[in-house]
Amino acid sequence: MLTNKKLGFIGGGNMAEAMVNGLITASFIEAKNILVSDPISERLEYMHSEYKVKTTSDNRELVQKSDILVIAVKPQSVKKILKNFADLVDGEKLIVSVAAGVPISLIEEILDGKSEKKVPVVRTMPNTPALVQEGVTAICRSEHVTKTEMKIVHRIFEAIGRTVDVEEGHIDAVTGLSGSGPAYIFMIIEALSDAGVKMGLSREVANILTVQTVLGSAKLARESGKHPGELKDMVTSPGGTTISGLHALEEGGLRTTLMNAVENATRRSMALGKTSAKTDRNMSEDGGE
Ligand SMILES: NC(=O)c1ccc[n+]([C@@H]2O[C@H](COP(=O)([O-])OP(=O)(O)OC[C@H]3O[C@@H](n4cnc5c(N)ncnc54)[C@H](OP(=O)(O)O)[C@@H]3O)[C@@H](O)[C@H]2O)c1
Repeated sequence: MLTNKKLGFIGGGNMAEAMVNGLITASFIEAKNILVSDPISERLEYMHSEYKVKTTSDNRELVQKSDILVIAVKPQSVKKILKNFADLVDGEKLIVSVAAGVPISLIEEILDGKSEKKVPVVRTMPNTPALVQEGVTAICRSEHVTKTEMKIVHRIFEAIGRTVDVEEGHIDAVTGLSGSGPAYIFMIIEALSDAGVKMGLSREVANILTVQTVLGSAKLARESGKHPGELKDMVTSPGGTTISGLHALEEGGLRTTLMNAVENATRRSMALGKTSAKTDRNMSEDGGE
């Protein structure tokens, strides 16, 4: 349990709630050591009544009281919000960002400069199954983050699923795979369920069969540690039903389609990153936000 640190969330939206819920359920930190800031008072009231965390609408107050800061606001707001409290941040506070597409260098640029010790910044990319504590979070760090700080960050995100370390250069690929991945799987679930209905099953039965098949297969793949090809062979008997189904998937180009999906999403993530970097530069040249 994290006993001697205060964890502050800037932004009390969906991702912050998923993390607070996971952290409290996992007993990793006591609610009294969690602070949440948000401009919407109803949201703060909800977070306090639901999780008993401390709340404030003043980001500067939250920053002063926190040892670890989780930046959980929309990417386009990050720059403006960080500037508002940059003077309060020194190398002793650990900065953890979940904002998609915001590079470590941008956060450092705004927050560094106050103290001798560089501000340690961790950039993460969680995904939506975090809402049910089955997310996966890719974590990358700046060179100023210590091993102990990384351990804490891993423990924080383990409360909402699993974690992996990646180089920041791979974060677009992470976005294309696990960030966008839930949407691919939801589309597959919808299509399989439709197929069940086409074959005469009720929608309710088709949904249950599909969702549990996807969940069970993922669990089997994770827990057996076996290669997915081996698991596929286990249900594929010679001349049987499954090989006929698989033939149709090969004919439809399922593998190529999924590889194209991840490649396209990765490229899109790279392009969006470049556009926002450009906009950012133009804005600072104009002196505006
Ligand atoms: N949800 C996901 O699955 C997911 C996955 C990966 C990464 N992320 C990242 O996580 C971040 C948050 O996403 P989200 O889905 O949690 O968004 P969200 O639900 O919109 O939460 C953001 C919250 O921050 C609040 N906020 C706005 N300005 C603020 C300020 N000045 N000070 C403090 N709080 C402020 C927003 O209030 P208002 O509504 O008034 O603006 C909102 O409640 C994003 O950067 C996103 O890229 C999310």
